[in-house]
Formats: sequence, C-alpha cells, structure tokens
Amino acid sequence: PRPILLTRHGESRDNVRGRIGGDSAISDSGELYAKKLSNFVERRLKNEKAASIWTSTLQRTILTATPIGGFPKVIINAPSALNFIINIQWRALDEINAGVCDGMTYEEIKKNMPEEYESRKKDKLRYRYPRGESYLDVIQRLEPVIIELERQRAPVVVISHQAVLRALYAYFADRPLKEIPHIEMPLHTIIEIQMGVTGVQEKRYKLM
Ligand code: G3H
Repeated sequence: PRPILLTRHGESRDNVRGRIGGDSAISDSGELYAKKLSNFVERRLKNEKAASIWTSTLQRTILTATPIGGFPKVIINAPSALNFIINIQWRALDEINAGVCDGMTYEEIKKNMPEEYESRKKDKLRYRYPRGESYLDVIQRLEPVIIELERQRAPVVVISHQAVLRALYAYFADRPLKEIPHIEMPLHTIIEIQMGVTGVQEKRYKLM
C-alpha cells in the first residue's frame, strides 16, 4: 500500500510570536525540522520510483519542502531508488483564512474583538472569521485535494497547516465533523497514513 505522509510546516517566525495567519518564513527550529523531514522522507521512500510533495502556496510550507528537492542528487547511485519527485503547490492547502484577524495573536483578538472570540469559542467548526473562512469552508475546499490524493499511485508527502491537516486527517481517520477543530496536530511530527484493502492504518513519527 502507498503511504501518505502528513505534516505541518516547520515552526514559523509567526508561530514563535503567537501570530495566526500571515506568510512568514520558518524559524531556526523550523529549518532544522525541514532537514530532518528530508532525511526521513529519503529513508522512508527509498524503494519508491516516484513521489509527490504537495505544499500550500505559503512560504512556510515551501521552505519546509525545500531540502527534499535536493534529495534525488543524494540517491543518484542507488539503482532502485526514487528517481523523480513532483512538487505541487495547492492554494486549497493554504491555512484557514483568518480574515480581519490575520496577523493577530489570540490575546489580541480576545481583547479587541471579544464577540468574535466568544462566537468562535462557542462553535469553532461553523465560526467564520469576518472576511475569512470557517472550518466548514476549509473542509469544502479540500474536496479536490482528497479526490486527487485518493487517485495517486505513488506516495504523497503533504506539507500544510494546522487547520487544514486537522480536516484532511479527519477524513482518513474517519473522525466526526464536530471534533475536527480540536484534533491535536503537533508541529514537527509526521502522520503516516496507509490505505490498504483492510482499511486505513496510521503511524506517527515525532522528529523533534
Ligand atoms: O492560524 C491558524 C491555526 O493554525 C488554526 O488553529 O483553528 O486552533 O485557531 P485554530
């Protein structure tokens, strides 16, 4: 069975500052994760002929994928090894759009927009940021990604964002809709999904 590897981007500079949204680069610790992820992928997929690396259009996922791009050179002498990688950037894999709250910290939202903060707390699944998205919106825009993922015959490494990965993971792990916004999706951890005839199997690798 072919694996699907799901991971968040390496820690971003905005993660460090506690800011949501934005399009910041990755921190030093995020850079380290990118290297570890690349080594992991290289080992895990060494017997595959091809693989796809899917990112969002945001810098932090693209930077996390960058070291993986270097790896065909590394394994050029290995006869049966992965010989090509397809990189795709999906807008549908971009983080939930926080609209007017983009770039704020949760404390700032609580202080400056207390009604928004409360409505989100009450119904995180349906709450839509003003001029932004809700979890339900994210789930809906992921449909083409899921269709494409299920069609792939080669392994896929998906490097995306917390809210998006909660939704993707819930689809494969068959978790109820209402749990999606609360699923734990830690940084610097790979969730490997295997779709076999007997159902879906899952493994986790915490790299840092
Ligand atoms: O910036 C967005 C976060 O990654 C999503 O987290 O839905 O728990 O606020 P949250």
